[in-house]
Amino acid sequence: MFFGTKKDNSVKWEHKDISQLDLCKVNAVVFGGTSGIGRAISHQLADRGANVLVVGRHFKDEDMKKIKFLHADLSLITEADRIANEIPAKDITHMIFTTGIVAAPQREQTPEGIERDMAVSYLSRYMLIRELAGKMGKGLPHNASKPRIFIMGFPGSGQLGDPENLNSDKKKYNALSTHSNTVAANEALVLDSKDRYKNVEVFGLNPGIIKTEIRNNYLGKDSIFSKAVEWVVGWTCQTPEDYAKNICPLLVSPDLDNKSGTMFDNKGNAILQSAGLAPEVVHNFIHNSAVLVTKVLAMKPNETTSKLPV
Ligand SMILES: NC(=O)c1ccc[n+]([C@@H]2O[C@H](COP(=O)([O-])OP(=O)(O)OC[C@H]3O[C@@H](n4cnc5c(N)ncnc54)[C@H](OP(=O)(O)O)[C@@H]3O)[C@@H](O)[C@H]2O)c1
Repeated sequence: MFFGTKKDNSVKWEHKDISQLDLCKVNAVVFGGTSGIGRAISHQLADRGANVLVVGRHFKDEDMKKIKFLHADLSLITEADRIANEIPAKDITHMIFTTGIVAAPQREQTPEGIERDMAVSYLSRYMLIRELAGKMGKGLPHNASKPRIFIMGFPGSGQLGDPENLNSDKKKYNALSTHSNTVAANEALVLDSKDRYKNVEVFGLNPGIIKTEIRNNYLGKDSIFSKAVEWVVGWTCQTPEDYAKNICPLLVSPDLDNKSGTMFDNKGNAILQSAGLAPEVVHNFIHNSAVLVTKVLAMKPNETTSKLPV
């Protein structure tokens, strides 16, 4: 178990070796599949025959036939709104959210007026799930498992955040509090979505600490501190590739049917949700997300804005 997470003994699944899997029926979208953990997952899925669409800004896998690319700057809510119309949701079997950054030492704001970590690591996911989840599964065979949504963050670690300060503009800014708020908001998104969308199953993924680019925004890319931290992480933690090999069999396991709302740790073991993330806290996160997103979309000139349930 990791960072205070607690095992959930009610959910078990058969851990298979990825080399045993034929994934030719999988149609996956990996938001944030251009780098780090998302890219490693995309590679594993594609290598086993899945069709993978990756969404991000810097595509590096032009040579991989099974991986297609959709460009989007997901720090912008309007961009998430735009690409939602370009994703063939009805045929998608898996949506995997790994888009993320860590809050900067000084508050950064997007051109839409949203704190950047919250925008990239949470609100883009909130927006895309709102637009796409209800459409998923309509093009899949009747005997197929329900489509699945995996939300990566740090669920089960006990972070409760502050839904009244979603945009980090109501109190003195603190990068760690802001990032904790994105962590709690993502866990709340799992808990809300499992009840809201009965046509899909929604899960939380906690990969633990893994050497990637994610901490650059806080530690400073190529700074001495960053090099030291990533050196230690590189020596002590699993690589994105190891994690992806472990987790891809989970993503497609039939044992996950009817287990919506479950969270999984860095080895793929089921963990309990954070104690204290009560239904009213979840409600406040989702309500305040809808308010924030609706405000941004209302500023969009000459277009009909999405009507999001608050
Ligand atoms: N690594 C860890 O230790 C760790 C620990 C706990 C949780 N996590 C979670 O794991 C997930 C993946 O993180 P990672 O470690 O793999 O980080 P990473 O290597 O930095 O990858 C982040 C991904 O997010 C995308 N992204 C960032 N800003 C974007 C933007 N404005 N628009 C579109 N895409 C954007 C990047 O794509 P582009 O570069 O193409 O924009 C990249 O594909 C995140 O949810 C993170 O919170 C990671």
